[in-house]
Amino acid sequence: MDSEIDWAAMADLLELEGETQLSYLEQAFADLGELNPRRVLDVGSGPGVAACLLATMFDKAEVTAVDGSAELLDRAGRRARRLGVRLRTRVATFPEGLDGLGTADLVWSGQVVHHVGDQQDALRRLAGLLEPGGVLAIVEGGLPACWLPRDVGFGRPGLAARLEAATTERFNRMRDELPGSVRVVEDWPAMLTAAGLTDARSRSFLVDLPAPLADGPRLWVRRSLERRRGMAAETLDADDLATLDRLLDPSDPAGVDRRPDLFVLAVKTVHSARRPR
Ligand SMILES: C[S@@+](CC[C@H](N)C(=O)[O-])C[C@H]1O[C@@H](n2cnc3c(N)ncnc32)[C@H](O)[C@@H]1O
Repeated sequence: MDSEIDWAAMADLLELEGETQLSYLEQAFADLGELNPRRVLDVGSGPGVAACLLATMFDKAEVTAVDGSAELLDRAGRRARRLGVRLRTRVATFPEGLDGLGTADLVWSGQVVHHVGDQQDALRRLAGLLEPGGVLAIVEGGLPACWLPRDVGFGRPGLAARLEAATTERFNRMRDELPGSVRVVEDWPAMLTAAGLTDARSRSFLVDLPAPLADGPRLWVRRSLERRRGMAAETLDADDLATLDRLLDPSDPAGVDRRPDLFVLAVKTVHSARRPR
């Protein structure tokens, strides 16, 4: 498991992110085609937004949220009770802990594979969980979320692009430092095929919440910017850090809590493939 990241501390951020981007999950699950799964696994479920939606959509199936963080699974369990859906939870560290989970007709794994050192091996293990004819779907790649205009009215324009560049560097370092880290061409459909699956394809979904934002998505933007402010502190110059601090100032009318022009625009890509019968 990625030991650098305190996942439990990210519970709010992950749940807000999932709720903000719920529309893409609905489209992505519908796009998986005519599925009538008996068993569904959400591997790396975090606080269970996708898992609970899976349990809603496939209400005859046994749906299990699997994660390395017991705290996040508690959160997923509470979410399921609140929504009145049947959800099982199972603590397991990915990828070794996948053995023993049993097989499933649908395995969903959103934004998790890139936290494993050997991504090809992770896909192979995930594929190994499938029943014949079962589907594996992962969320990787896509396009990063935009929240703010290029020129926010103060500081040097283009802050979001520089923040994204800093995040990319941080991501590279995170991957380099993972145990057993292996570089691979991140051609996800080719990797799914190399994992023994067939009919690999990619579909991208737009998350488009125009301004003005409701409270939940607005809070997600705040939490995300706070996190990025922490991660990019060594990389950004003083001018950009001052701009970020102003954006994060709750009392500033031009800050993210109050400005009217905040939006969410992102692209999520789902790569899926099937185990041959
Ligand atoms: C970026 S979050 C994604 C959460 C959710 N699937 C989503 O799409 O929002 C990554 C999740 O994977 C879990 N995770 C990361 N590495 C893991 C590992 N090696 N074993 C088990 N869980 C892991 C974390 O605890 C976290 O809940």
